[in-house]
Amino acid sequence: MRTLDSNLEEKRAAGEAAADLVRDGMVIGLGTGSTVAWTIRRIGEMVDWDEDEGIDILGVPTSYQAQELAISCGVPLTTLEQHPVLDLAIDGADQIDRNLVAIKGGGGAHAREKVVSYSARWFVIVADASKRAEVLDRPVPLEVLPIAASLVERLVKKMGGVPKIRQAKMKDGPVITDNGNLVVDVDFGIIEDPRGLASELSALPGVLEHGIFDNVDQLVLGPGKVIDRR
Ligand code: 5RP
Repeated sequence: MRTLDSNLEEKRAAGEAAADLVRDGMVIGLGTGSTVAWTIRRIGEMVDWDEDEGIDILGVPTSYQAQELAISCGVPLTTLEQHPVLDLAIDGADQIDRNLVAIKGGGGAHAREKVVSYSARWFVIVADASKRAEVLDRPVPLEVLPIAASLVERLVKKMGGVPKIRQAKMKDGPVITDNGNLVVDVDFGIIEDPRGLASELSALPGVLEHGIFDNVDQLVLGPGKVIDRR
């Protein structure tokens, strides 16, 4: 059985290995979560502190968490308004299948994560081995306008899903995203056709973004453990 510690070590190994993809002059999307946090820390060690050593890069954070971590690590930040096309985006995932289709949004940041990842020329997922699956079966997070919550719950039930509004852990009531919306986690059981499901979810009124990502170029599981999209 996988222990918590080995899992943490794998996350660190994957996160730090992905920092090797970073080159001087790049503008990089910075993902959210505990695995990519290791990438951000490592990039912080690589940046140019004294203008003689280190690299010059800029980061675009995908969440308040990523922004705060990047600032604390000394990673200089920019925005998509200033740099609409990114060289690279690195992020974590909750589950990823053999075709590198991923489910994201465990941190409720998938709307910004999707915008940032689609703005990048190369999108890399960092994950420990427990995130890999033959077929996706995790609940799919939806970021939903508060006014649309009941409607979306009804519509996803008709699609065969079991919706649950995500509740906060250290606050009474629901999780509110960085964009002021709710997160509805929808359990569809085994997802045979994630691309088809993604299209259906995109069409739902009031759903700002769903957590199915079909734009992953590469999966990094650790040093030398890299899987490219076929
Ligand atoms: C946040 C995400 C995270 O990247 C995902 O939940 C993985 O997190 P962790 O690396 O902590 O397991 O999608 O919205």
